[in-house]
Amino acid sequence: MQDLDRDSVTREAIAQMAATPDPRMREIMAAATRHLHEFAREVNLKPDEWLAGIAFLTAVGQACTPYRQEFILLSDVLGLSRLVNVMHDAEGREAAGTETSLLGPFFREKAPEFAPGESIAIHDAGGTELVIFGQVTDAEGSPLPGAVIDVWQTNAEGLYDLQARDASVMDMRGRFRADGEGRFHLRTVKPIGYSIPMDGPVGQFVHRQNRHGMRPAHIHVLVSAEGHRELVTALYFADDPNIGSDTVFGVSQSLVVQEAMGQPGSPRPDLPSIHYDFRLSRLEAGEGGARVGADPSSLMPAAG
Ligand code: BEZ
Ligand code: FE
Repeated sequence: MQDLDRDSVTREAIAQMAATPDPRMREIMAAATRHLHEFAREVNLKPDEWLAGIAFLTAVGQACTPYRQEFILLSDVLGLSRLVNVMHDAEGREAAGTETSLLGPFFREKAPEFAPGESIAIHDAGGTELVIFGQVTDAEGSPLPGAVIDVWQTNAEGLYDLQARDASVMDMRGRFRADGEGRFHLRTVKPIGYSIPMDGPVGQFVHRQNRHGMRPAHIHVLVSAEGHRELVTALYFADDPNIGSDTVFGVSQSLVVQEAMGQPGSPRPDLPSIHYDFRLSRLEAGEGGARVGADPSSLMPAAG
């Protein structure tokens, strides 16, 4: 038996994992262990700091509920979610395909279905009404009839339904089906920028770093069509003061929009509108899921 020192303990820990049958899991755990040990050596991690880290992660876990995912929030503010998205884009997104963005912690499965042109603002309809219209196509521009467009956003006060009212209500979110030419249009109200949830351990973490905690105004969009890679993205408003300093690093130039009157082709010329076409990439055989996030309820252990 060998006494383990600051370097050999890393090799020994990885060696003990070498029999992990799943090769991908083996690769990920070995790399995670190597980097974690390297991090501890780099900062010369002290016992009280190690314990503070454990307490922080414990609090993050305890803050998770069926309606709140504090671990995803942590991944977001660390830039990890953006990194995973960027790598996912680089791997399978066709050059002309729409860029992805964060799913965020407020996505909910089974949002209500709406007919073309209806408004998702049911309970909180205050604010500037606007129209979003466009076409869903593949990366070559061929229409994808029947594509499903799932949108969700804050109300004009910057609150998601889960924050504004009790969880039994769905508001400011909905699913639309594109027509036979892949065209869609919907109505909503203009969201405003908002703070990520600051009342938990991740909020404290952001606060202690002197960061503002804001996200620029945006509308989340998840587009799906048979045979195509699910598109998880968001449209960001150019006129938001924090467009260049998103706390969770979700903004890309190609996703920045601004509503305007008189857009050619708008189905509602009486309202300000945004024209945005979504281009989906082909789904490659064996490709995994595209969501860097989940409905928080799906990540809770089953009761009992
Ligand atoms: C959001 O866009 O809803 C969001 C994303 C990441 C962290 C917090 C909120
Ligand atoms: Fe959001």
